[in-house]
Parts: sequence; C-alpha cells; structure tokens
Amino acid sequence: MLPGNRVRVLDFGGTGAFESRAQTAKQLEVVRVNLDPAVRPHFASVQDVPVRPSFDFAMAFGVIEFLNADALRSVLSDIRARMTTGAALLIAELDPEAGVFGRLNSALTKVASGGKIRYWPAGELRTQLEQAGYSRVRDRPDLRPASLLASLSTYYCVEARA
Ligand SMILES: C[S@@+](CC[C@H](N)C(=O)[O-])C[C@H]1O[C@@H](n2cnc3c(N)ncnc32)[C@H](O)[C@@H]1O
Repeated sequence: MLPGNRVRVLDFGGTGAFESRAQTAKQLEVVRVNLDPAVRPHFASVQDVPVRPSFDFAMAFGVIEFLNADALRSVLSDIRARMTTGAALLIAELDPEAGVFGRLNSALTKVASGGKIRYWPAGELRTQLEQAGYSRVRDRPDLRPASLLASLSTYYCVEARA
C-alpha cells in the first residue's frame, strides 16, 4: 500500500470505467493495462508493468475471453508476479455455462469471432489460477457484476490470492 493508504489496483483490460465509478476512487491508484490505445492505458501489456511497487488488488473484468490458454497462463502468472503476497485478484466473466442465453451467447460469439473470443468456464479458470500458483481460489457470487442483460445473462466472479 502507498503512503497515505492509497490502494494500488491493477486493472487488466481496464478502460477507465472502474475508477470513474468507484466511490473510493480517491483512495485508489489504478493502473490500466489494455492493448487498445483509444482507452489511454498506462501499459499495453502486463509484462510492461514494473514488478515493484506491488499491487494490493488486481481485477480482470470481461477480458479473459480474448485470451487463449497460453495467453491466459502468461497473464495470470505476470499479474501474480506484480501482486503483494496475499492480495486478491478478481476475475469476472460471462458464464458460458449459465442458462440458455449464456450458452447461446457464448456459442455465437465464438463462431462470429472465428474462435478468437471464447468465454472461459469457471471450472477451467479456477484450474488455471491454481496452476499459476494462486491460492484460496473460490467463487464470489456476491461480487458478480450486474449485466445490462441481467435477466438473461449471468456473470461469474472468481477470487484468488497471490
Ligand atoms: C469488454 S471490454 C471490458 C472492459 C472493462 N474491463 C469493463 O469491465 O468495463 C474488454 C477490454 O479488454 C481489452 N483487451 C482485450 N484483449 C486484451 C489483452 N490481451 N490485453 C489487454 N487488454 C485486452 C479490450 O481492448 C477491451 O477494452
């Protein structure tokens, strides 16, 4: 944590929406990693983020569907290397196994993107997190983000500790 108790947050796939809405924004130092220059990220890749000072919290909301297995493995490991031991990583993702809409949306997105976008089932993500060295990997349904299509689609949220 920084002097003055500001919490350092690594927002993988962040666009600025989080800090613009967070009620605690003044107490946060958010570092955005995004390969889209239009969202004015601090870094295009996690590997470009200095390892120190470390992060107190990390998040990846609605982004891991863009990563294949190799890329997800690298990103999870690179994020963990930049986190304070015991700090939490939260990952939220549209649940491709939840209900008709989740399955349909997931299948259509995969086809429309030529296989480049694939929503990760929660079980596969939990396994990847454990293999990347995270501990206390668990579902956090209480922290699931609300969706615009909340009545139809469901997001899951997984927490893991560095
Ligand atoms: C659906 S948006 C989610 C944005 C934000 N996290 C949110 O919850 O509102 C996905 C974002 O991930 C970014 N993205 C996709 N692949 C990425 C990668 N390999 N590394 C960093 N950012 C990526 C995209 O540029 C896009 O801004």
